[in-house]
Amino acid sequence: MSKYADQWKTVKVEIEEGIAWVTLNRPEKRNAMSPTLNKERRDVLETLEQDAEARVLVLTGAGESWSAGMDLKEYFREVDGQPEIFQEKIRRDACMWQWSLLRMYAKPTIAMVNGWCFGGAFSPLVACDLAIANEKAIFGLSEINWGIPPGNLVSKAVADTMGHRKALEYIMTGATFTGAEAAAMGLVNKAVPLDQLRDETIALARKLADKNPVVMRAAKVGFKRCRELTWEQNEDYLYAKLDQAMHRDPEDGRAQA
Ligand code: COA
Repeated sequence: MSKYADQWKTVKVEIEEGIAWVTLNRPEKRNAMSPTLNKERRDVLETLEQDAEARVLVLTGAGESWSAGMDLKEYFREVDGQPEIFQEKIRRDACMWQWSLLRMYAKPTIAMVNGWCFGGAFSPLVACDLAIANEKAIFGLSEINWGIPPGNLVSKAVADTMGHRKALEYIMTGATFTGAEAAAMGLVNKAVPLDQLRDETIALARKLADKNPVVMRAAKVGFKRCRELTWEQNEDYLYAKLDQAMHRDPEDGRAQA
């Protein structure tokens, strides 16, 4: 039995051979992200970051959905009308795990997109380092169909990954696309048949788990931050990151051969 069995209500965590399987676990609501799930998710990420058994984190969804996005009832309708300061907290909890914590997570992360991926789910999708999708999964920036523009950091996420024209096309039409199309436009690394999804994810996770973790962190964080900096700033920053990795690495660079 998982050492984290029953610790969280809306998120399931299992660790197998260095891979932490983190499953959004509200299949009856297609894994829509409620305030409770957002709060628990943050706790899950912080807990697993300190767990030496977890070398790579895979984010997936229970049942046929990856995530149907923000919970239209519990995240929007039930929070509207609450004190403004409470709304602030609900939004911050969502951003914390979906974006700031996951994006710069200290361990490698893979989104394993098993099925539906809508709206707010694009934030954690893009915040994960890599993504593998079921080729038949359905993706949609459906916000416009609900009469709202994309919230959280969804627009920023798709601008960074899908390309200008494609991102605007899907933001403005609310049309859906498949996992195979998501791979073609670079939103996910690869799309495979559903029956190969888990094995492909495990093969990728093992490759990542095998690398020097200190160097891995410096490499991924360095890449993500460097996109926001000028060439001059990058020259200093990336060299500083390299020096930091060498200084912190107890193995002094594992792969010296
Ligand atoms: N927020 C809250 N509840 C949601 C939800 C969401 N984003 N997405 C699905 N659910 C709930 C439904 O209300 C339903 O609850 P109920 O059984 O209590 O009535 C349950 O999940 C199942 O949904 P259903 O639509 O019957 O499932 P489906 O398998 O036929 O379709 C989806 C799956 C994901 C295509 C469909 O649920 C959907 O389009 N959801 C909205 C996705 C979206 O636009 N998200 C962006 C929000 S900005």
